[in-house]
Amino acid sequence: MEIIITPDYEQMSKTSAQIIASEIKRKHDLVLGLATGDTPVGTYDELVKIHKEEGLDFSKVTTFNLDEYIGLAPLHKNSYNFFMWENLFKHVNANSGNVYVPQGNTDDPEEFSQWYEEQIKKTGGIDLQVLGIGGDGHIAFNEPGSSFASRTRIKALEKQTIEDNARFFKKVEDVPRFAITMGIGTILEAKKILLIVSGKNKAGVCAQFIEGPVSSQITASALQLHNYVTVVLDADAASKLTRTEYYNWVRDNKHMVQKKVGR
Ligand code: GLP
Repeated sequence: MEIIITPDYEQMSKTSAQIIASEIKRKHDLVLGLATGDTPVGTYDELVKIHKEEGLDFSKVTTFNLDEYIGLAPLHKNSYNFFMWENLFKHVNANSGNVYVPQGNTDDPEEFSQWYEEQIKKTGGIDLQVLGIGGDGHIAFNEPGSSFASRTRIKALEKQTIEDNARFFKKVEDVPRFAITMGIGTILEAKKILLIVSGKNKAGVCAQFIEGPVSSQITASALQLHNYVTVVLDADAASKLTRTEYYNWVRDNKHMVQKKVGR
């Protein structure tokens, strides 16, 4: 894992947007996995800026979102589909035919999940998967205990996740109890992974998934099994890491590191 510690949310957003933009410039028909939540909003704003100011082209990019609440129609204002259009897609030249978000109001979530996996396969697989992390260490909606072999499926949400996400709803009772989510196995098949994280409230889980043991109790720790992960954190999220000096040395000597290890 490459650990890039940035001073604050703004810099975390700029750094992560630059990483995504350079992958799109490298491969115009990039298959990009996307995440929702407060964390990536700044990253998406930066991508919109790069699109407007430098013409970053999304027209051939295919996107797959990680997850969606079961029971919410795509145009529901709390749906992740709505979030993605509001925060990114409608501000860039995204091609709606290449945009995939799990359908929360499908009649048959199991069949839909299989179809979603097939669509990912048909594109040749995800080139870069963007992730955030939940307060209980989850990635996408893979709650503690999720199998590292899991594929896209229905998942019941943890009490902590429901409470954390209640801020987007009128009351906690309105938060759906189930979601369709890519599995850990699905996520680990992405060629590259970029996890972004911000805030003191995530410092504990960051220390656990980056420096702690691999455990299904902190599903983000599965990323230790992947060979190309970049984590961009702000200083608050990084405040409980113990190997900061090493990470910063690698970050500040990127040129030398690239020459030696090619990253
Ligand atoms: C939800 C999403 C995750 C996201 C997490 C953190 O649970 N399913 O993909 O990483 O929220 O969200 P936030 O960035 O708002 O803390």
